[in-house]
Amino acid sequence: MAASMDKTEEETSFKSLGVVEPLCEACEQLGWKAPTIIQKESIPLALEGKDIIGLAETGSGKTGAFALPILQKLLDNPQRLFALILTPTRELAFQISEQIEALGSSIGVKCAVIVGGIDIMSQSLMLAKKPHVIIATPGRLVDHLENTKGFNLRSLKYLVMDEADRILNMDFEVEVNKILKVIPKERRTSLFSATMTKKVQKLQRASLQNPVKVEVATKYQTVEKLQQSYLFIPSKFKDCYLVYVLNELAGNSFMVFCGTCNNVQRVTIMIRNLGLHAVPLHGQMSQSKRLGALNKFKSKSRSILVATDVASRGLDIPHVDVVINFDIPTHSKDYIHRVGRTARAGRSGRSITFVTQYDVELFQRIEQLIGKKLPLYPTVEEEVMLLNERVTEAQRFARMELREIAEKKKRPAEDDLEDENVKIPAKKKMVKGGKKKKGRRK
Ligand SMILES: Nc1ncnc2c1ncn2[C@@H]1O[C@H](COP(=O)(O)OP(=O)(O)OP(=O)(O)O)[C@@H](O)[C@H]1O
Ligand SMILES: [Mg+2]
Repeated sequence: MAASMDKTEEETSFKSLGVVEPLCEACEQLGWKAPTIIQKESIPLALEGKDIIGLAETGSGKTGAFALPILQKLLDNPQRLFALILTPTRELAFQISEQIEALGSSIGVKCAVIVGGIDIMSQSLMLAKKPHVIIATPGRLVDHLENTKGFNLRSLKYLVMDEADRILNMDFEVEVNKILKVIPKERRTSLFSATMTKKVQKLQRASLQNPVKVEVATKYQTVEKLQQSYLFIPSKFKDCYLVYVLNELAGNSFMVFCGTCNNVQRVTIMIRNLGLHAVPLHGQMSQSKRLGALNKFKSKSRSILVATDVASRGLDIPHVDVVINFDIPTHSKDYIHRVGRTARAGRSGRSITFVTQYDVELFQRIEQLIGKKLPLYPTVEEEVMLLNERVTEAQRFARMELREIAEKKKRPAEDDLEDENVKIPAKKKMVKGGKKKKGRRK
């Protein structure tokens, strides 16, 4: 069966799926020689005008799978405010916009990214120009729907929810309901993700019309070329093990996931103190700093991105070699998305999940979800412990720096987040004593 599948894959081209010439050329220019499986299976259906629920593993080309039909339908029926793509995070919205613009450059598609953390007025001006495609995070789009004069989505023809299970989860419920209320029922709707839940089946709420399910992966599948492992270590030596692994695998690009903004800050400063080139990415940074940090990592001027789950879904940074779950994800599904930041589009990659005495249950849940037992990442304990003294010193400095930043924050001047010397801001919550002072300032 595999052989015959390979054969059909070889024979399939974007053209044979019904994609029109200018878009086929755009694919070629991006180096896409043949459609991926999800593209092969969903594009013809989308071109037929079907609603789609697309499930395919991380890095398998889902963006192209929804972008190409949008562009083609737009060509058939040129219209402003034609399509809306909802995504859970801002960086992902920018990335999708870039991909759509790359695919649609020859047909002159105009996109607008409408996300939080960016000046509202300039967004209103962009909306006034009536782009063809809006890529938005739900909250900010609702702001515009409610407050921007003259802006509405009553002519919308196409809705996509990328990372649909996330968009449809409770966090976005109010916003998404508001959006669904004001867009036409007569439209195409597509939902894509690498993980689907029952909630997505419940998404009749999203008023899909006889949707076709295109499931290229089983429900919770990780990529074959991803080498996954774990470390079982005492909580108090986590930092030591992190530094050990980063040294052992030096020369690679890393994404290190932490559970909170505070820990992202702390870990970034701590490893910077040891001379490692890290940048932070989390939700308490200003948007310009977030994009700045991400760009430094993307352009390889920094080899380590330390992030919260704000970076766990959708981001496509092909050179990521290693994903480290420094803090184990509390939602098992996030594991799949986090480790999916490496081993994309047929490349190989590896992931290492830190499991402490407190994390055993969560880890077992992850293994259960992905249906695999992970091997232990080999370490030499004596070598790890040799680092202890330096790491302890770096931790101490990190604590001091965080305290200084917290102090500074009480003054109005903004810290320069990406600045290697000044390090991280602590916008709302201070790392130390933040809770106690919470009432003082918003
Ligand atoms: N047909 C193709 N041939 C080669 N590369 C492709 C093709 N389609 C997409 N790609 C590339 O594959 C990479 C992953 O694509 P994409 O980001 O769309 O994955 P995804 O399925 O959305 O993953 P995730 O679940 O992490 O969001 C991108 O760099 C994209 O340019
Ligand atoms: Mg994606």
